[in-house]
Amino acid sequence: MDAEAVVDVSGEKSFSSQLRSWQQRMEEALAARLPAAELVPERLHAAMRYAVLGGGKRVRPVLLFATARTLGLTERHVEGAACAVELIHAYSLVHDDLPAMDNDDLRRGKPTCHRAYDEATAVLVGDALQPLAFELLARDVALPADAGIRLRLIEMLAQASGSLGMAGGQAIDLAAKGRRLAVSEVEAMHERKTGALIRASVMMAAACVPRLSEDAQTALERYARAVGLAFQIKDDVLDATGDVATLGKAVGADVRQARSTYAVLSGVGAARERMQRLHEQAHEALEQFGTAAEPLWAVSTWLLARRN
Ligand code: IPE
Ligand code: IPE
Ligand code: MG
Ligand code: MG
Ligand code: MG
Repeated sequence: MDAEAVVDVSGEKSFSSQLRSWQQRMEEALAARLPAAELVPERLHAAMRYAVLGGGKRVRPVLLFATARTLGLTERHVEGAACAVELIHAYSLVHDDLPAMDNDDLRRGKPTCHRAYDEATAVLVGDALQPLAFELLARDVALPADAGIRLRLIEMLAQASGSLGMAGGQAIDLAAKGRRLAVSEVEAMHERKTGALIRASVMMAAACVPRLSEDAQTALERYARAVGLAFQIKDDVLDATGDVATLGKAVGADVRQARSTYAVLSGVGAARERMQRLHEQAHEALEQFGTAAEPLWAVSTWLLARRN
């Protein structure tokens, strides 16, 4: 299917084919931007490709594409930014799985990077994916040529992945091990460790539109906040209710370790109610865009119902 085709995403069936086409597009876009596995140092490059390719829902790129569609851009305008965000996400997973963090053996249905290679290589994979993401924002052809926009994208991704964003959220998560957080503290942690990159995905696509109104930016920010929090709550719920084969990663670890997740603290029922409310908030935020926002609405619906 032509990835550039404008597809009616109001129906479930058409969204699922749009989703597959976006995921396929990302697989090719990432494969083309990662160094070849034959390039020295081969082991590091092979491990980078292992960690990024062949798995993953590509949620953040899908959010960039859906936002682009809502705002009248095509996928081509944001493909470089979508790759940059996914590289940061993939690096965060490689480090999250290390023995020093969550100590997991399975990721995306395969052995985790440090299991397939070794710990030192997994550390270096993260070290190398991160600058590659920023290099793309600086020079990728599949981005607006305007240097001011590129600078803004670099700033947004840096903030979202740093100590006030994803890395900071991971630090809060580690510090909370063995301690019971209040639900409001869990939400604040989720907002950083997962929400920051989800927000960046939406807002980086928005930043590619010159002179986008303040109203539109505020509405997209509200949408992304709601979706980001719902996304991590769902991740916590899947740890409690999912199965390894469908999820492609370990289940039950949060519950066993009494981690402060939404599902552990509030119970799965309350977590589901919270997600439903956030889904409704996401819907309200999109009202001003009318039918143009159907792709973003379909993404929120997909993420609420997902099984992996
Ligand atoms: C998993 O993210 C880690 C979290 C931030 C919750 P995803 O559920 O997006 O993982 P992949 O990319 O599909 O494997
Ligand atoms: C990790 O959250 C979020 C990241 C920033 C990588 P989790 O530790 O819950 O993610 P999973 O469940 O291992 O994918
Ligand atoms: Mg973790
Ligand atoms: Mg983990
Ligand atoms: Mg989890």
